[in-house]
Amino acid sequence: MTDKDRLIIALDLPTTEDAQSAVDAIGAGGSFYKIGYQLMPIGGLDLAQRLTDDGKKVFFDFKFHDIGATVERGVKSVATLGGDFLTVHAEPDVLKGAVAGRGDDSRLKILAVTVLTSLDQASLQKMGIEIPLPDLVLKRAEFAAEAGVDGVVASAREAQAIKARFGDALKIVTPGVRPAGADANDQKRVVTPADAIAAGADHLVVGRPIIAAKDPKTAAETIAREIAGALKT
Ligand code: C5P
Repeated sequence: MTDKDRLIIALDLPTTEDAQSAVDAIGAGGSFYKIGYQLMPIGGLDLAQRLTDDGKKVFFDFKFHDIGATVERGVKSVATLGGDFLTVHAEPDVLKGAVAGRGDDSRLKILAVTVLTSLDQASLQKMGIEIPLPDLVLKRAEFAAEAGVDGVVASAREAQAIKARFGDALKIVTPGVRPAGADANDQKRVVTPADAIAAGADHLVVGRPIIAAKDPKTAAETIAREIAGALKT
């Protein structure tokens, strides 16, 4: 993995044409792209193929959540696409199915979503979950490590405890990243790229600060430089 691969650019755009234009504008400034629900049903998989054919890496943010056997079959199908990361929810049966579907020699790595950052303690309580949120994150990271998945999606706030407990056994992929002075948009707990790396994140997911920038290439390169600088300290 190169330092550049640590930055994952979220292609949260309405059409694959818009996404392709963003990728073209970013050029050599980006090497890793995230495709989610918005593009998946409308050509996102073909776009992913074009990106991998071009030597880029692809993160499928599909957050699978079903019975283990169904997840296993779904992951097996995704693995044929040639991407690099796929998200699933962090329940033991889901994780077990995902690892079986991935197999042992796949390029595809599985990431477990611990607790969505849109949830807080009050929302957990509403769903009948009483355990403190940070403990739930660690419990789910433990399920992930036990099942043999490759990493977790977690906020920078949780990254430190996950890194301390699991070391390099789990890659940590962190959204909610904003360069100093950038618009937070709807993200509530933002951290700078340097702080996220210092907290133990291995990859940062950044969307709007790059794809909505006037000059997306420079925006991506500036963040990549901040990541590289933080890795040296
Ligand atoms: O534009 P922005 O940088 O906020 O985009 C962040 C990306 O990371 C979006 O695709 C969003 O769905 C995703 N994400 C997130 N928080 C999570 C999980 C995923 O912001 N907990």
